[in-house]
Amino acid sequence: MGSTFGTIFKTTTFGESHGLGVGAVVDGCPAGITISVDEIQLQLERRRPGQSRLSTPRQESDEVEILSGVEDGLTLGTPIGLLVRNRNQKPGDYRKMADIPRPSHADYSYRMKYGVTAQSGGGRASARETLARVAAGSVAEQFLRAVYGVEIVAWSSQIGGEELVLAESELETITRAGVDATIVRCPDRQKADLMTLAIESAASAQDSLGGVISCLCRNVPAGWGEPVFDKLDALLAQAMISIPAAKGFVSGSGFAAAAMTGFAHNDCFVKGGGGLKTETNFSGGIQGGISNGQLIHFKVAFKPVPTIGRAQKTADYEGHEVVLEGKGRHDPCVVPRAVPIVESMAALTLADLALRQSCTRF
Ligand SMILES: Cc1cc2nc3c(=O)[nH]c(=O)nc-3n(C[C@H](O)[C@H](O)[C@H](O)COP(=O)(O)O)c2cc1C
Repeated sequence: MGSTFGTIFKTTTFGESHGLGVGAVVDGCPAGITISVDEIQLQLERRRPGQSRLSTPRQESDEVEILSGVEDGLTLGTPIGLLVRNRNQKPGDYRKMADIPRPSHADYSYRMKYGVTAQSGGGRASARETLARVAAGSVAEQFLRAVYGVEIVAWSSQIGGEELVLAESELETITRAGVDATIVRCPDRQKADLMTLAIESAASAQDSLGGVISCLCRNVPAGWGEPVFDKLDALLAQAMISIPAAKGFVSGSGFAAAAMTGFAHNDCFVKGGGGLKTETNFSGGIQGGISNGQLIHFKVAFKPVPTIGRAQKTADYEGHEVVLEGKGRHDPCVVPRAVPIVESMAALTLADLALRQSCTRF
């Protein structure tokens, strides 16, 4: 239970981190959409461990196979099976931790829930599961771009205490190429250097850092999102907080709205775009849980990676005090690798709402 996302454009992910493979079944993608396997692969490469000196040295080839639902590059309208076989299984790395639940990881809560534990690593809680979301998310993204011209781009906007603050006018200039130009996936070079230093210094102290990912969705038509429980911002929040280590979600002005007055915060309408547009966009493109045709923007906060090399006093499952030093192969900061995961979860959310809207009015 709990491994399926969406109602019409429906994605189910499967696989444990150190099992035979991880994958997704995408059901409900309309027929006749051109799907590039190279584009799926490119997004998987952006998520892959070992892609830069800041990431875990763990090498996973993460090669996607399309098992069904696509022929000659076109969707058939039938379930799309996506599989990435695990080739670099090293359960030994985690054996030492088998008797000790990792602090702030999922070991203890999973054991309490299921009574059994996956052979090694984090099982379904491991970030390896997210590669299935990225493969499925790329299918959703290709559908959204082909049919609606939707573009999604995310970037690291904060790592530890280093924050990149951009003006509304600068958002238009952000591209994936610009984001990928730095190893921390921050489009501002100077800030990226400071973020890189922050990660390196946390890593040399055998510690870890968190951060924030910002995301834009361009060209989303007005009308996507369902009253009342499946509001666009509510579903985006669910999608984002379902990513491992994600701890916070805000759309538009978010918590900053609390300190503003209505006069300052109201997004007043003017004529434009064949209807109305707004002069400001504190709403982040969503009003009443429905897209209003403006740029959708939101942020996701990630906690510091739980597994750290630095010794920490905790307890084993028997309750005995122990000192744990994380020995596996871990990232000092997940934020740069989580950028394509955020884009993918945004695409899965929007693809489903696009199809739901197509059943709402003609
Ligand atoms: C891309 C990515 C990579 C991650 N890598 C690690 C890791 O190497 N070690 C670790 O302890 N946690 C890692 N995490 C975080 C854990 O998966 C997560 O903290 C754990 O499942 C507990 O879930 P929670 O933090 O959402 O409560 C990673 C998360 C993401 C998104």
